[in-house]
Amino acid sequence: MEVKRAKTAGFCFGVKRAVETVYQQLDKEKGEEHPIYTYGPIIHNEEVVKDMEKKGVRVLRTKEELKGLCEGTVIIRSHGVPERIYREMEDNGLEIIDATCPFVKKIHKIVKKESSEGKHIVIIGNPDHPEVEGIRGWAGDEVTVVQTPEDAEKFSVEPGKKVCIVSQTTFNYNKFKDLVEILSKKGYDVSVLNTICNATKERQAEARSIAEEVDAMIVIGDKHSSNTQKLFEICQKACKDTYYIQTLDDLDLNQLGSVETVGITAGASTPNNIIEEVQSNVRIIF
Ligand code: F3S
Repeated sequence: MEVKRAKTAGFCFGVKRAVETVYQQLDKEKGEEHPIYTYGPIIHNEEVVKDMEKKGVRVLRTKEELKGLCEGTVIIRSHGVPERIYREMEDNGLEIIDATCPFVKKIHKIVKKESSEGKHIVIIGNPDHPEVEGIRGWAGDEVTVVQTPEDAEKFSVEPGKKVCIVSQTTFNYNKFKDLVEILSKKGYDVSVLNTICNATKERQAEARSIAEEVDAMIVIGDKHSSNTQKLFEICQKACKDTYYIQTLDDLDLNQLGSVETVGITAGASTPNNIIEEVQSNVRIIF
């Protein structure tokens, strides 16, 4: 009887840094009236966000909430934001703490530079994801988001146009490769920058290899976290008995009664204490 916990389960470097930034700021401004905001929930994890709100952090959930806000510190989360949002915050006189993940920041810089050189930017990713919205906001007007093979087939710009392709950091590498292949066949002068983050690749590869070996697999993460969703899909393909849970409460331990090995992994925004709680309770039943 064995429980295998993925080494890569839980917070990635960028998320850890953003979460720590908020708690450090809360410590620094303890007892002061100065409000602390995060621009959007700092991570896709309700438990963590609720804890921060209890300690006084206010979450700005829409762009409209930023309008008219003229006092306080706004922390930008790891996903990053469009360039115009920095300007708006500065114009309002807000203090900015930038916790954009350095890997995302790098994409902003690439996109801005390539765009200024006249290239059409293609972002491979989910158009509704805040990271993609942020990257988009560093390109000029010539930018297209490609998520599916149909989007790639439809893609068209004027002949001779130079095209620069980047990726959302959490995009699946195989899907990225397939989309790049479709786009490359169109005859444009294409430069491809694989900006998928290693943390995601490593977490996905480790999850797949554990899921292939175990009888049941547990994937822990918030229902709204796209990287946890992807992790779940990968594990489910390799192991039919895969469970997607947010916390221990969602897990019916009786379901695991007859299995011999259980694997555990977790999305990039799952706190360690939640993973540990699941791990120790699964151990108890074995
Ligand atoms: Fe950054 Fe990679 Fe995490 S881009 S936020 S370290 S998944």
